[in-house]
Order: sequence, then C-alpha cells, then structure tokens
Amino acid sequence: MTTEKPGEEQGHERAVPGPDTGGVGPRLNRRKFLQSAGAMAGASLLPGSPAGAKAASALTPHPTSEAAAVPVRLRINGTEHTLTLEPRVTLLDALREHLGLMGTKKGCDRGQCGACTVLVNGRRINSCLSLAVMHERDDIVTIEGIGQPEHLHPMQAAFVRHDGFQCGYCTPGQVCSAIAMLQEAQRGDVSAATPDVRSTRVILNADEIRERMSGNLCRCGAYPNIVKAIESVAKNGTGERG
Ligand code: FES
Ligand code: FES
Repeated sequence: MTTEKPGEEQGHERAVPGPDTGGVGPRLNRRKFLQSAGAMAGASLLPGSPAGAKAASALTPHPTSEAAAVPVRLRINGTEHTLTLEPRVTLLDALREHLGLMGTKKGCDRGQCGACTVLVNGRRINSCLSLAVMHERDDIVTIEGIGQPEHLHPMQAAFVRHDGFQCGYCTPGQVCSAIAMLQEAQRGDVSAATPDVRSTRVILNADEIRERMSGNLCRCGAYPNIVKAIESVAKNGTGERG
C-alpha cells in the first residue's frame, strides 16, 4: 500500500512546480527534471548541432599563437650578441635560455624576489619583468660581468668574507643589487629609511641597507650577514671587516 501524498513520489522528492499549473506538476519530480534537462543539454552538444560545434571548438586546444621572432642585438658584459627572439621573451629568459648565462637566477618570475636582478645602464632591474627587445641599445651587466672566481668584485669578496649566503641562489641578484644600491646612495637618492629626505648625503647604516635591499629576498635568511657585507663595502670600499 502506498503512502504517497499528492504531488510526491517515493524517495521523498518534492514535485517541481509546473509552468502552467500554478503549483505542483504532479508527474514531474526533481530527479526527472534534472535528467531531462541534462538530456537536452547533451543533445545540444551533439556533433552537427550549432551549439555542439561551438562548444567543441571552445574545448579543442588551439595551438599556441607564436609571435614572429625578430632579430635582437644585446650588449651584455661588454659583448654584442645577436639573437632571434619572439618579442615576448623576457630579458631573464634571453640571458638564461638563449645565451646560457645561468648566473642570473629565476626565482618567482614575477618581480617579487629579486633573484633575477641585473644592471642595465648602471641601474638595477628585475630582468624577469623586462622584455629583451626593449634593451637593444642598453649596456647590460650580469653577475658574470661583475667578477669571476679568480677575480672577485669587492662586493662578492665581502659576501664571502662575511658569510653572506647559504645556498647562494639569491646571491647573484643580491650582489648586483647591492652594487647599484651603493651608487644610488652616493648620488644622494633617498629611501623610506632616510631620516631627512632633504639631505643630499645618505649615511648607509644597517636600516638604510635593509630598506634599500628589501626587493631582494633570501630564502635562507642570510640577511644579517648580507647587511654586514654591504655595510663593510659601503664603509671602506673593499669589504674588509671594519
Ligand atoms: S625572478 Fe625576477 S623578481 Fe623573482
Ligand atoms: S642564500 Fe639561499 S636564498 Fe639566499
């Protein structure tokens, strides 16, 4: 014997209001409604139907559109290089993938860590945020142009002397950034840590260095010794312990 109430079926499913009943459609429950709606949607996706063709087109992976490669001349560490690059290639990828200059590191690839810092016309930039084609007439210096193992730049020597690194992944970017930062301070550029922004003479204490180097992250947390290394070069230009 059934105990169904009017408008209900077994499974405690409530009837869906019908469009023209003004209330309960007696033979259409939610499950049937969803089943029929799904069937209708599926039919519209059948091959040959306009909606199906449109949906299939949206789902079909299109080949990646490739921009035409163009010749690019880059002056890096004093040497001219002619490359053929798509305009969307970043300076970082041009250095690493096309020129094999692996000293410049890719950390975040989105301008947040500073691992990719290089010098362009003496200024530090994040090479992951800059397109190679934008630098045709620029003078680019990477860590390979800063120093070599047998002939370290004073900043590199200071990092070694003050133990300013652990894994070393951030170090090329830190060194490039620190070199440019010293020049900025010498020019009198102020920072958020400069007590008197009207002053043309910047005293590079630890607070100034931390603020000015805040764009270069170190995952190993070698910051105290990085600051000491930079401070020592700022004081005597050689990185000797002061
Ligand atoms: S890799 Fe360029 S800022 Fe992180
Ligand atoms: S030394 Fe490892 S990330 Fe800085």
